[in-house]
Formats: sequence, C-alpha cells, structure tokens
Amino acid sequence: MTAAIIDGKARAARLVQEVAAAVPAFAAARGRAPGLAVVLVGDNPASHVYVRNKLARTAEAGMRSIEHRLPADTREADLLALVAALNADDAVDGILVQLPLPGHVDADKVLVAVDPAKDVDGFHAVNAGRLATGLPGLVPCTPSGCLILLKETVGDLSGAEALVVGRSNIVGKPMAALLTAASATVTLAHSRTRDLAGHVARADVVVAAVGVPELIRGSWLKPGAVVIDVGMNRLVGADGKGRLVGDVAFAEALPVARAITPVPGGVGPMTIACLLRNTLLAAHARAGLPPPVAL
Ligand code: GUN
Repeated sequence: MTAAIIDGKARAARLVQEVAAAVPAFAAARGRAPGLAVVLVGDNPASHVYVRNKLARTAEAGMRSIEHRLPADTREADLLALVAALNADDAVDGILVQLPLPGHVDADKVLVAVDPAKDVDGFHAVNAGRLATGLPGLVPCTPSGCLILLKETVGDLSGAEALVVGRSNIVGKPMAALLTAASATVTLAHSRTRDLAGHVARADVVVAAVGVPELIRGSWLKPGAVVIDVGMNRLVGADGKGRLVGDVAFAEALPVARAITPVPGGVGPMTIACLLRNTLLAAHARAGLPPPVAL
C-alpha cells in the first residue's frame, strides 16, 4: 500500500473560494465586507509568518483586515484595553490574538476578554464549553480543518477508533470533542500516556498534535490508518538549512497508511481557510443573518 497524500492546500483553496463567493452578498446587506482584527504582540518569527499568511488570505477572500502589531513589552492592561476597543467596534466581526503571547501577559485573561461572538479562534471558555456540550458556537480552526479533511477521506467516522495525540486547548481537546460529536470512539493521548505505540496500533484515525518531530513511527500505525499530522517542527539539517517536519515519520508512514497529510501543505492551509470561514460566520451571526448555505 502507498498512502494517498491528502492535499490540504487544494482543499483550503476551495474553502477560501467558497468564503469569497459569500462575501459580496454580506457586503450588499451590510454596506461593508466582514472585518477581521489581528493582534500580534512581540517578534516571534513563526507568529509573524502565520499572521502574514492570515492577512494575505483574508484579502484574497475579499474581507477587510485590521492589523495591530504591538511591541514585546506591551503591558497586559494595554492589550486588554485594545481587545475592549475591538469588542466595541461594530465593524470588527472577528478578533484573533496571535499566540504565544509574551511571558508577562496572562494569555488566559486575554482570551476570555474577547467577545465570544467575535472569537474566531474559538479559544474563549464560552466557545470551548459550547463545543464540549454540543451547542453551536465558533470552533477552533485547526481541528475544524482536520475534521473536513478526515470526513472527505474516511466518510462516516461513526464507530471509528480515533486517536488524538496532544491535549492542547488549541488542537487536541477541541479535536477530541469534534470527533466525539462525529460518533468516533476517541482516545486522547498526551505526554504522560503509557504505551503510545499500542494506542496508535489500534487507531483507524490518528490526529497528531504534540509538537515532537517524527514522534509517531510508521511501524506503529495500523495498516490502512488515516493520518492527520498537525505538527510543524522546524529542524536544521547538517547543511544548516531548515526543514519542516510533522509529528509523524512521513516516509515510514507512506507504505502503511491509507492516507496522510503532508507537512507543509496539509493541515496548515486548512487552519487559515477555517479562520476565514469563522470570520464570515461571525459576521453573519452578529448581523442576524443566516449562515451562507455553502458553509
Ligand atoms: N498560535 C498557534 N496556532 C494558533 C492559532 O490557531 N491561533 C492563534 N491565535 N494563535 C496561534
């Protein structure tokens, strides 16, 4: 068997087009395009790359973006004041505070300061609670993107053995909630899990989001498993050049898995596409408009 490569880049481009197609009707109804505010504090190089990509895709979808780049020594109180101003600004539909925040800022405090109706990252405790209890709300972007790819690859996830590796609030926990809602039998593994290889061997679906380069070996996989690799680990080779690898040993997995996402070009583009979708959905919900049918 050679695994099919799941083309997240192509799927994400389609989703961005679907979002873009719905923007003109919203703009006609409201007199403006949906608006996304992006707040970036400090100079984390990876965050700068992510934010640049998010802003580029937002423009591509015909939406407005409002950028706030703040110095690394920004006081927590000033960041909270900015979030309050964005909450109060009716032309802002979505607010994204890029993580990680500098150490002197309490990220949890900032995330719950965002109006849940504008929380396009889905990180607010209210939206996390809504997801956990099966109520409608804004769902975190990376797990949403993973679920789209999984449903299109596997079809019905009902009864599937799904293993999520990593228990972060950004990916692991919401991914487990989404898979549970899709009626999979979900195991949530993490750094204290005993016999990770044994859990991987039983899984029909593996979602890896631990941030440990090539932790999951191809020989651990159940033959025919579907693998979604959220890892984005930058390794520096002997030649001094950087390369991105996932949390799964990709070359080893190819002869064993049924399908696998590449790194890069798998989950990453889906995260941004789902952010645009969330912004469009937030804009419609705030305006009292029904969500566009295609989404
Ligand atoms: N940092 C890493 N991933 C994310 C994400 O999805 N959203 C935000 N805001 N920050 C991140």
